Amino acid sequence: MLNNDIIEEAIRAYTMERSMPRLIPILDSIRKCLHEGSQFIIPVDSSDEDLDQLNLDDILANDEKYAASSLSLERDYHLHLRRIETVDGKQWLVAFTSKKESGEKEHLPDGILAGGEQYQIQVNISHVLQVVQETADVEGLIINPWSQSFFFNKGLLHVMQKAEEELPMRNSLFIEQGDITKLDVDAIVNAANKTLLGGGGVDGAIHRAAGPELLDATIMLGGCKTGEAKITKGFLLKAQYIIHTVGPIYSGVDEDMKDLQNCYWNSLELARTYHVHSIAFPAISTGVYGFPKEKAAGIALTTVAKWLDENPEYGMLVVLMCYDQETYEIYQRLTKQFSN
Ligand code: APR
Repeated sequence: MLNNDIIEEAIRAYTMERSMPRLIPILDSIRKCLHEGSQFIIPVDSSDEDLDQLNLDDILANDEKYAASSLSLERDYHLHLRRIETVDGKQWLVAFTSKKESGEKEHLPDGILAGGEQYQIQVNISHVLQVVQETADVEGLIINPWSQSFFFNKGLLHVMQKAEEELPMRNSLFIEQGDITKLDVDAIVNAANKTLLGGGGVDGAIHRAAGPELLDATIMLGGCKTGEAKITKGFLLKAQYIIHTVGPIYSGVDEDMKDLQNCYWNSLELARTYHVHSIAFPAISTGVYGFPKEKAAGIALTTVAKWLDENPEYGMLVVLMCYDQETYEIYQRLTKQFSN
């Protein structure tokens, strides 16, 4: 699965302005993709006869094996990981974030010497970084050498590993009280109505805080069905994204429960496709739409917990953001009951 667009985006931004604030998002994006099990394309320089003897599918199937003995690629399969030598004589391993990036260009960015014939296999990012770390005579990894390349040296790799130790991307759930528009998370969820054109309650608060561009964006979405979720940028908010979902207008039918579950589930599913790793929900449908707070809180907690259980490796921080004291106390009480 190659889903490394956020790495390419972060490298592109860094290429435009080589600064620390632009460097950190590259490391963060690599961590996020690593956690999602994404892969790099790894070119291998091996002769036709070597490769003819090999069953590359077998190699791919044995991806886990790389983790055990990280250089098994070379030893067990006699594959020579492609290296590039920079003008200062230093050796680097090579990885591509996408098929597009791996297509070799005739001219190379200055400082990079062409390599030999290559074949490509896909390997989990975590294994690639392990190989880099354990290959003594390389400086690090050049990501996408043929275009906007990033020299991921071992020093930076160490910084990322430290971040991993200090801020592991684990699933977590928090109950907080306050104004959701103030949160510095990847995405906040809006309890919208089907038109997505704004309204009162948290919908109104989010539109006010995000600014007028939000309405321009939601007009383009063409509305949203109950239980579904759509995404826009966060504009003036600290949050990068706003996920708009429409809760059920409570009438006591069973479908209300399913619709409310879908709001939380579909918002989390949509968040994952956008590499969101921290998301805040308001108490959907418990205001204007009249859903009983206690019932809604139970549905929210069970649905979020189910999603986190089904995505144990993803690393999602979920905040259930209560605005009023009553909602906050209900969540606290139910969370205690759940954990007993
Ligand atoms: N931050 C966090 N939560 C908030 C905020 C805020 N700034 N403002 C309100 N809330 C809370 C409310 O207290 C309630 O607990 O959000 C929860 C959902 O209430 P509503 O905003 O009324 O949303 P909902 O019940 O889903 O009704 C949606 O109301 O605002 C309109 O356009 C919206 O038609 C839609 C309907």
